Amino acid sequence: MPGRFYVTTPIYYVNDAPHIGHAYTTVIADALARWHRLVGDDTYFLTGTDEHGLKVAQSATEAGITPQEQADRNAGRFAEAWELLGISNDDFIRTTEPRHHAAVQAMLQQIHDNGDIELDTYEGPYCVSCEAYYAEGELVDGMCPIHNKPVERLREENYFFRLSRYEQRLIDWIESDPEAIQPVGKRNEVLGFLRQGLDDVSITRTSLDWGVPVPWAEGHVFYVWYDALINYATAIGYGTDDERFRTWWPAVHHIIGKEIIRFHCVYWPAMLMAAGLEPPKHVLVHGWLLLGGEKLSKTVHGQAKLTDIAPARLVEDFGVDGFRHHFLHDQPFGPDGDFSYEAMVARYNSDLANNLGNLLSRVATVVAKKCDGIGPAPDPDSPLAAVAADAYADTAAAWDRIQPSVALDATWRLIKETNAHLESNEPWKMEPGPEVERIMGDALEALRIVTILASPAVPASCQEIWRRIGLPGSPEDQRLPDAGAWGQYPGGLAVEKGDPLFPRIKA
Ligand code: MSP
Repeated sequence: MPGRFYVTTPIYYVNDAPHIGHAYTTVIADALARWHRLVGDDTYFLTGTDEHGLKVAQSATEAGITPQEQADRNAGRFAEAWELLGISNDDFIRTTEPRHHAAVQAMLQQIHDNGDIELDTYEGPYCVSCEAYYAEGELVDGMCPIHNKPVERLREENYFFRLSRYEQRLIDWIESDPEAIQPVGKRNEVLGFLRQGLDDVSITRTSLDWGVPVPWAEGHVFYVWYDALINYATAIGYGTDDERFRTWWPAVHHIIGKEIIRFHCVYWPAMLMAAGLEPPKHVLVHGWLLLGGEKLSKTVHGQAKLTDIAPARLVEDFGVDGFRHHFLHDQPFGPDGDFSYEAMVARYNSDLANNLGNLLSRVATVVAKKCDGIGPAPDPDSPLAAVAADAYADTAAAWDRIQPSVALDATWRLIKETNAHLESNEPWKMEPGPEVERIMGDALEALRIVTILASPAVPASCQEIWRRIGLPGSPEDQRLPDAGAWGQYPGGLAVEKGDPLFPRIKA
């Protein structure tokens, strides 16, 4: 049954340009959104930029420009990077937009009216890179545990959110819904944190003015995280269009990296509860992309820092779909993974050049030579029909479990089996006639199904394959499960040979 699927990425800080770590999250969210559109779900995909706070203000000062100029410049870079990578977001939210200021003020005013925000004094170690206070015990040798950098000591009279009141309700929420936080290791981590007890948190600042003004207290702005989290509500109409908001909330899937788990699994759900709303349906936590492989630093950038690698640089070598396929396949959702240029070359050559590219080129070549360039219809009883049905079922199950890597393996099984089927039958050695027609019809039908199933990962290539095998429209206009059933390649279509879709890359 088609449902509703609202998927979000974290909104990215505009102190810097987009790098492959940001792209990793965004490509996963994009592939999920595309999959859900294919299965007919009402889908809404949100990404954007986080533009307030000390980190952005400081980077603007260093660059000699205003925070707004800094935000405009880098928000543009994020938007460009996502366009380059074929990201199909429905909205791009910027936290400096008036719609966002209105929603932030509405939600926090509501929490204030409900009695969960009060004035108090706070003093403690603060990491500007995290934009977060730490408890003394969380520091490692006096440094931020995430950035390994010195912290600042801040003391402020601030408004506090009475987070401690939500401890038990948060535990109840997570315990009542085993899927609320995935994977299970992260769910347990959050439960462990909650069971240690929660302190109230300071949510406003007077020490800077680059933020959303607190409506009830002049001179205060909201602390960047409490403004940022609300973006997920702003974009679907919180405070402006109640009906729209109710349509999408809480059917949300927040895709996040593991370093921002507390904000998304503790503070955000508690804020929502305090505002009288339901917590998010799913928070999906992935690991970090780490930098490994000597070759990378030598051949790609000359610098061994992951945050220095712009997506565009890798797209030059691998194309957009080579980039997307690698990050979806080789960085399984959940654990940390080492980024390696060599692994990227190997994945491209094996999956795209050798398997998918080769299948397309063989089919087009044989159809040109033995079928006058006209693709025949498939055999309803082909042995590939069962392979395709299994591939479809496994692909769908894996996307549902947010396992892109497993989904792609399932789709690629159909590609490999179809190549093997051609190799064992050797239609290129046969005389033109019904036997060749049957084999090529089956291969074209397998390719039609593959093209639909792989389109969330490698959309532009799938569109091109679809066109070359003579089909009208787009694989993305198809609706699963119906379009996945065997036997729908109509036959009688002109098949185009074309240049290799994925030229091999030398290692
Ligand atoms: N602005 C906050 C998020 C606010 S959400 C309401 C923030 N921004 S960020 O620019 O630092 O981006 C964080 C996100 O980018 C991470 O959660 C993660 O999804 C992604 N990644 C950044 N570096 C990454 C890696 N090295 N590896 C994997 N993902 C990475 O935090």
